[in-house]
Amino acid sequence: MSTPKLQHDLQIKFGSEYGAEEERAIIDILHKEAPTSGDACIQFEKDFAAYCGTTHARTVSNGTAALFLSLVALDIKPGDRVLTTPITWIATAAAAVTLGAEVDFVDIDPVTYNLDPKNLEAKITPNTKAILPVHLYGQPCDMDAILAIAGKHGAAVIEDACHAVGAEYKKHKAGSMGYTGCFSFHEQKNMSTLGEGGMIVTNDPAAFERIALYRSHCTRVYGKSTKYCSLDETKVPMGKRFWYQDFDDCGYNFRMTDIQAAVGVIQLRKLDTLNQRRIDNAAYLSAGLKDVPGLTLPTIAPGVKHVFHLYPVQLDPKEYGMTKEDFVYAMLHERGVKVGTHYIPLHYSTAFKKRGFKKGQFPVAEAAAERLVTLPINPRQTREALDYLIESVKALARK
Ligand SMILES: Cc1ncc(COP(=O)(O)O)c(C=O)c1O
Repeated sequence: MSTPKLQHDLQIKFGSEYGAEEERAIIDILHKEAPTSGDACIQFEKDFAAYCGTTHARTVSNGTAALFLSLVALDIKPGDRVLTTPITWIATAAAAVTLGAEVDFVDIDPVTYNLDPKNLEAKITPNTKAILPVHLYGQPCDMDAILAIAGKHGAAVIEDACHAVGAEYKKHKAGSMGYTGCFSFHEQKNMSTLGEGGMIVTNDPAAFERIALYRSHCTRVYGKSTKYCSLDETKVPMGKRFWYQDFDDCGYNFRMTDIQAAVGVIQLRKLDTLNQRRIDNAAYLSAGLKDVPGLTLPTIAPGVKHVFHLYPVQLDPKEYGMTKEDFVYAMLHERGVKVGTHYIPLHYSTAFKKRGFKKGQFPVAEAAAERLVTLPINPRQTREALDYLIESVKALARK
């Protein structure tokens, strides 16, 4: 029987959960006058870089800013070509478009739904400067193949790891293998920093320098007794020394606040536990749904840790007895369960239709999207909630 509590646990709205530790951290920062880019941000960056095994990490205001700044670091401009997958949130492709680059898509792997390296090389031209694979739903892409092809053609790989914080590819953390890795801490993600937030990681000191500069108006503070006092967030005490501020270029304000970062420090400590609950919940769903006719359940590729930001299922209308659209409607109105449709291929959107894209160009993505739904998954789902979800999917089959 559906209850408001069960239905709350089955909504996809909130990915993460907060507790008393986050509450204490927020109050602590309030007592420090809630700065931006202060000690808590520096702590969060250190912890996050250590967690990912990268030399650098920088907090940003959201995942979109992380992608945008990674492209700024590469100096992406009109005439450059950037490749990504058509099955992603628009931010992945929009970041390059807003810098004037030509964006094209690479069709997906029908099993993992990630960018298929088999289709990548044919899309590379001499102008291709960046490839943005997305670790979709929390499952890392085939990074060896993507990095090899990109390396051969001199293109940088910017990992969109917004779904995949804590995921692993052959023991490497998602986001740590490319030129940069981009994370989102939006409210629906596997960890969150009060609704919005993001991080960029990199092992490339030159990329990091540009990211840090452009994130915060390209400011450098110069002092009399030091050549320069690094970037703004280092907050080097200047004392009574003469100092002045200069701007290397015109940049942006994509900073994170300390209240968000202090929450991020705690969320990061809980991340593996939160992810494990998602992994366990996904396994429970897969066991419960395995005999339902017409469902294709998620596949975990060998050698990866999939952190199930979302739980994708394909629905065969003939076998299951209902189209995807009818299923989404019936789940909400008959069962009180909100099912997602992540994603409608980007080349169907007005934004990309007006850039010349047409239905038929990416047949694997199109065929998958006809049938793809995402079932609610989050770390606080109880067994009771999962049983209700399984029972609901079964109850609608061949109705
Ligand atoms: C795959 C992907 N990339 C990028 C983003 C952008 O992140 P944000 O919403 O933090 O800007 C999202 C957000 O949902 C996403 O799902």
